[in-house]
Amino acid sequence: MNEIQSMMTGVIRENRKVASDQFMMTVILPPSFPIPAPGQFVMVREANRGEPLLARPLSVYGFQKQDDHAVLELLYRLAGRGTILFSKMKPGDEVALIGPLGKGFTIPEGLTRVLFIAGGVGVAPLIFLLQDRFLTAETEKGKKPIFYLGARNVNLLVGLERLNGLCDLKLCTDDGSQGYHGPVTELLKSEIEGYDPKETVIFACGPTPMILSLGRLLKDNPIPCQVSIEERMACGLGACLGCVVAIRGPGRKREYVRVCLEGPVFDLKEVLPTSSVDMQGSENES
Ligand SMILES: Cc1cc2nc3c(=O)[nH]c(=O)nc-3n(C[C@H](O)[C@H](O)[C@H](O)COP(=O)(O)OP(=O)(O)OC[C@H]3O[C@@H](n4cnc5c(N)ncnc54)[C@H](O)[C@@H]3O)c2cc1C
Ligand code: FES
Repeated sequence: MNEIQSMMTGVIRENRKVASDQFMMTVILPPSFPIPAPGQFVMVREANRGEPLLARPLSVYGFQKQDDHAVLELLYRLAGRGTILFSKMKPGDEVALIGPLGKGFTIPEGLTRVLFIAGGVGVAPLIFLLQDRFLTAETEKGKKPIFYLGARNVNLLVGLERLNGLCDLKLCTDDGSQGYHGPVTELLKSEIEGYDPKETVIFACGPTPMILSLGRLLKDNPIPCQVSIEERMACGLGACLGCVVAIRGPGRKREYVRVCLEGPVFDLKEVLPTSSVDMQGSENES
């Protein structure tokens, strides 16, 4: 089971549309809610009617602790029944939350070049990581983090107000309505030779086609890359085995892991093409 976990009721302070199919929910929680690490997630459901029956996993987008309460921010895309239900909730409504859960991103020592690769709402845990660990916008040798952010079109690029000024922001859209015309991985491919593998790390989160494309791009490249992968979850606690995926373990041996417990962040080189559920959609956004 996840060691640091807590089930709590939170009260929605705000739940607003930030793009055509994306919402941001701000939840007020008791001050005892544990401080999440970037890359960790919470399991969320409506508190009183208990819907959806199975809570849904959402990454932490923002978190602030005050003396008498904590503020948790979630960014979510309408995918199906559960997230549509969340989008209809109003300020004052209550959510039941378990978390923070899972293993987040690991920050290597002595970094000089940090790259973020995000597709769609995959931006959520990466913005939290950037703000929580790289707020000065400078790594040790003074190079600004580079943030590649992709979406289907300009109207679906979210989080820009949080990123501006903190990083060198490179936008990509499938239809060319803003920034580079094409997937984030294509832009990265054209620039990757400029990055020294010995001083670079990549943090990535996005739809499965983006993660798979990143895997192909970095197959023979030693730049370390940590990715947050998505898998359907029932308990989020390591108990139901509903989120088990195969990864490439030590010695390239196939191993089975629970995404909710051993992940959701993995070394990209461990991720197999079958490691995640949703194989459809564009690289910038599923
Ligand atoms: C660790 C983790 C963190 C996540 N963080 C976020 C986040 O910050 N914001 C966000 O919008 N989404 C996030 N997701 C994905 C989110 O959990 C799913 O979109 C959501 O559970 C779908 O629920 P639903 O009832 O709306 O859709 P459903 O009706 O359950 O499913 C609709 C479609 O989405 C697919 N799907 C369902 N669950 C998942 C899943 N867990 N991963 C991938 N595809 C799924 C289904 O195969 C189906 O095609 C995260 C998933 C994980 C595992
Ligand atoms: S969701 Fe139940 S074990 Fe991971």
